[in-house]
Amino acid sequence: MPRIGRPRPAIPAAIRINDLSKRYGGPDGVLAMDGVTLDIPAGDFVCVVGASGCGKSTLLRILAGFEDATSGTLTVAEEPVTGPSPERGVVFQDYGLFPWLTVAENVAYGPRQSRLQRDEVKRRTTQNIAAVGLERFANRYPSELSGGMQQRVAIARVLANQPSVLLMDEPFGALDALTRSTLQTELARIHRDTGTTVVFVTHSIEEAVYLSNRVVVMQGGASHGIPGHIAEVVDVPLGENRSVTSPEFNEIKRHISSLVHAELTTTATE
Ligand SMILES: Nc1ncnc2c1ncn2[C@@H]1O[C@H](COP(=O)(O)OP(=O)(O)OP(=O)(O)O)[C@@H](O)[C@H]1O
Ligand SMILES: [Mg+2]
Repeated sequence: MPRIGRPRPAIPAAIRINDLSKRYGGPDGVLAMDGVTLDIPAGDFVCVVGASGCGKSTLLRILAGFEDATSGTLTVAEEPVTGPSPERGVVFQDYGLFPWLTVAENVAYGPRQSRLQRDEVKRRTTQNIAAVGLERFANRYPSELSGGMQQRVAIARVLANQPSVLLMDEPFGALDALTRSTLQTELARIHRDTGTTVVFVTHSIEEAVYLSNRVVVMQGGASHGIPGHIAEVVDVPLGENRSVTSPEFNEIKRHISSLVHAELTTTATE
């Protein structure tokens, strides 16, 4: 389970997002996201929720360095983000594995690209395959694995770069409920063990409250006629070993749900 309720460390924010906006399609295009400001301390597990089109993936792609912001500033560990970096590992819903490489070769890919010594590549590969419980499948190809196993490989591949920030966009969205729940538990453990800062986009409010110590609720989007923005940042002051049936858990879930659905109701009646 994540480390929750601990005092905020007196270290610089891992991620500083200041008044970020994104307009797609040139000066006359759609303002997809506007005025997004958020500090994420090192070691936090932050989930981002909100209705479809509110800008969650846009924000994540900017954090990843895949997309430039139109205005505003973004720093990770005090450095401006100017492009993708192995320091910021990204996991999407579609696993993005190299189909022609085995599990071990997929996981070793990043460390090899970084020209690490052979022993270190081997150590990271073995360690991260073990961290996601795939020791017996190291020599298989992605096509020989289930969706849940492929997503495990995708996570191990990113962790092998020892990123300080893990960016995940609906990583468990395509998985069945049982596999999803197992991977949630594994991710919480990996977060606890590595202290990596995690930003995790999900459509599941329950998943967000289960995993994170803060939930960023976004609203807006083109279909609402206003740019995507942060409506509220909800603290999740729950401890480890969370119970999804506890009154505290459900109170937070209800609050977030009302923020997400209030907007849908407003739009539907307009
Ligand atoms: N490459 C693009 N070009 C033009 N518009 C885009 C592009 N990517 C996203 N948009 C628009 O920006 C807005 C935000 O999209 P984004 O994908 O960030 O939403 P989201 O919150 O991730 O949605 P979902 O929950 O459906 O994944 C939407 O209106 C979308 O149509
Ligand atoms: Mg998205």
